[in-house]
Amino acid sequence: MTARILDGNKIRDEIKSELLEQIADLKRSGVTPGLAAVLVGENPASQRYVRSKVKTCETLGLFSEKIERPKEMTTEELLGLADDLNWRDEIDGILIQLPLPPQIDTKRVLMAVDPAKDVDGLHPVNVGNLVAGRAGFVPCTPAGILEILKRSKVEIKGARAVIIGRSDIVGKPVAMLLLHEHATVTICHSRTRDLPAVTREADILVAAMGKAAYVTGDFIKPGATVIDVGQNLLTSEEEVRKVFHDAREPLDALKKKGSVLVGDVQPEDVKEKAGAYTPVPGGVGPLTIIMLMSNTIEAARLRRGSRGAAR
Ligand code: GUN
Repeated sequence: MTARILDGNKIRDEIKSELLEQIADLKRSGVTPGLAAVLVGENPASQRYVRSKVKTCETLGLFSEKIERPKEMTTEELLGLADDLNWRDEIDGILIQLPLPPQIDTKRVLMAVDPAKDVDGLHPVNVGNLVAGRAGFVPCTPAGILEILKRSKVEIKGARAVIIGRSDIVGKPVAMLLLHEHATVTICHSRTRDLPAVTREADILVAAMGKAAYVTGDFIKPGATVIDVGQNLLTSEEEVRKVFHDAREPLDALKKKGSVLVGDVQPEDVKEKAGAYTPVPGGVGPLTIIMLMSNTIEAARLRRGSRGAAR
């Protein structure tokens, strides 16, 4: 039996049409939600992400501003920029694309963003709200994963959920969200002993450790729901042959485009073993950006909308 594909593009489109209604409502009351996306340096993946965030704002009719700074920027300069953006009323959401260059104190910078504009959900106030189960901004990829599971009617309550990866941006927050939905949650990482034995317990397996096709069939309980957060670019023929077992199509794609995108899960194994899974591309990725839009709209409503005014 082949697994059900959890189609991220389709779910993204559902959410997008709901957001368009909310945007129209806000605009009728004279508010256009605005996002500032800050890109420091020239990391190609970050450039690509920021470009698509700004483009999605334009598609939805949100105001956006892309702010680019050189990689030599200091922590003090970036703190100053965050402060300027905190003061500007037309900016509802501030996104500081990560990773930042090594000389920058990332934690200090994330702390400097006004929690009411922290649409990435990385300020300690929002992290604390998430842990305490209180209202606040939730990081976009974890929020998107919950949307996929809920809208695809995957039962979370009582399920064994295993997450591979303990990052602040995915692993930890998705663990909290699943816990609040009454899953029994385990977080695994590079020091976990006998990882496949732990992940084989999972009804819901979230792979978020950034290792190309690392999760193979023996990690997956038959029938499990597998969420693949990985976005790994393979650029050598040797890597592509190894991951895809010499299959023709990805080798042709490598020749044509110079790289092949693969998740943290082995794409053939998951089809055979899982009950449902998110493909790469076209699974979690599309949700991340639309949840950023959703958070930006929510920030605008809370700060400037009628609900905000009534608070
Ligand atoms: N880098 C990779 N993913 C993200 C994200 O969701 N937000 C930010 N700010 N940086 C990232």
